[in-house]
Amino acid sequence: ASFNFGGSYIMAFDCGTTSVLATIVDEYGCIVAQARRGVKTSFPRPGWIEQDPMEVLASQIGVMMEVQFKSGIHSDRIAAIGISNQRETTVVWDRISGQPIYNAIVWQCRRTAPLIDELVERGAEELVRSRTGLTLDPYFSASKVQWILDNVDGARESAAAGDLMFGTIDTWLIYNLTGSQVFATDYTNASRTALFNIHTLDWDDDLLALFDVPRSMMPEVRWSSGDYGRVASDIMTNMPPIMGVAGDQQASLFGHCCFHPGQTKNTYGTGCFMLMNTGDEVVESKNGLVSTIGVAADGKISYALEGSIFAAGSTMNWLRNNMGIISSVSESAQLAASISDNEGCYFVPAFAGLGAPWWDPHARGIVCGLTGASSRATIVRAACESMAYQSYDVLRAMEQDVGLSIERLSVDGGASRNEFIMQFQADLLDIPVLQCETVETTAIGAAYLAGLAVGYWEDLEELEQNAQIVRTFLPYMSAERREQNLAGWRDAVKRSLSTAQ
Ligand code: G3P
Repeated sequence: ASFNFGGSYIMAFDCGTTSVLATIVDEYGCIVAQARRGVKTSFPRPGWIEQDPMEVLASQIGVMMEVQFKSGIHSDRIAAIGISNQRETTVVWDRISGQPIYNAIVWQCRRTAPLIDELVERGAEELVRSRTGLTLDPYFSASKVQWILDNVDGARESAAAGDLMFGTIDTWLIYNLTGSQVFATDYTNASRTALFNIHTLDWDDDLLALFDVPRSMMPEVRWSSGDYGRVASDIMTNMPPIMGVAGDQQASLFGHCCFHPGQTKNTYGTGCFMLMNTGDEVVESKNGLVSTIGVAADGKISYALEGSIFAAGSTMNWLRNNMGIISSVSESAQLAASISDNEGCYFVPAFAGLGAPWWDPHARGIVCGLTGASSRATIVRAACESMAYQSYDVLRAMEQDVGLSIERLSVDGGASRNEFIMQFQADLLDIPVLQCETVETTAIGAAYLAGLAVGYWEDLEELEQNAQIVRTFLPYMSAERREQNLAGWRDAVKRSLSTAQ
């Protein structure tokens, strides 16, 4: 790091689905302090998922202050702020009052499945795929904005009058943190809306028309590493500027230093997201993956192939909160390892339908293969294994799409600390799984983007020197056992799909 920055740090946020985090990162890319708060999620109807944008904002500001008080590292020693965030989640607010006109509709929400079915029937899939790289699915923001405009009283009229603003969580945070000065998003977040053309790098008029969203609602789109304005002094005085913004999965790709084509990472968060950098090329998946903007920094756009899995860590939360069969998520590894195999039990956590590579918004979760001998350990183990099976499906799809074998997989996120899951992942994939020093690679990526923009780090090579692998899980499962497991999983997935219902 350059001399001028001696004794200073980068602050990075990870405004996730389950929790919001603020971290302070040093020049070696190590987190020296962090503060976290949970985010409340409401389920107003089956398949509907919402959050309160005001609470998300207040919590993010809360942890931003808390991490400084806790560490004694205050704003004058912070060179820049980087933001990473849960993607696709949709907020619409009033331009004058700044108040959201509806709750944030969370990425996992399925309420727009009928709307998407209708668009599929109208043959819109190819248009969406060719312009955005995405599948036509309720997951992405477009149908969520449309739903808000169609269902909130007076919203259509206000939108037509230019009085509404749309943003994903990054835009919502930036707009509020800068005291309404900056209404912007970055290329990676924009690429998740299904309204952004990833080739022309602009909002797409045909897609805006398809989803009936006026262009006047859309934020300006900027590079991930660059200026997003200063935190307003009435929120906190003397804060440095926001200089990095990326969707959490792209931030994590950057945090893993996957700057070059072929490099791949998997993040086990609320959901599980595997991304491979594909360089200049937008790979058209034939196997149920999406293409997206992977990196938008250093004056260069790199695309990525992504496998989006909707339920990973959230399955563990469901076991704890809804079923009460574990008291903490950390208990799951030990319980899973307390039995020697899965006893033929499989858990398909299609709580929010299934994402890649199946894309079935109407799929439902199932647990199958229970016997009189099954215990809570059986179910917990099946839930843990489901993260690895889903990641297996996505990785094989990725290999087929690019015609290459992936030789190792870098991992991060909460469950990357679950030894049972990581060993099982290596066994299933039959390749080494590499665990990084921190599980918070997403925040590190946001810090890197911000730090690069202010010259705290000079270039990508300097960042690559920071990368630290702490543990490698090597595969040792027999091929026969692996095949047996995979056959059981495939059978279970078939049962969960809407075609089986
Ligand atoms: O696409 C959704 C993703 O960005 C959510 O990430 O970390 O909250 O599971 P996470």
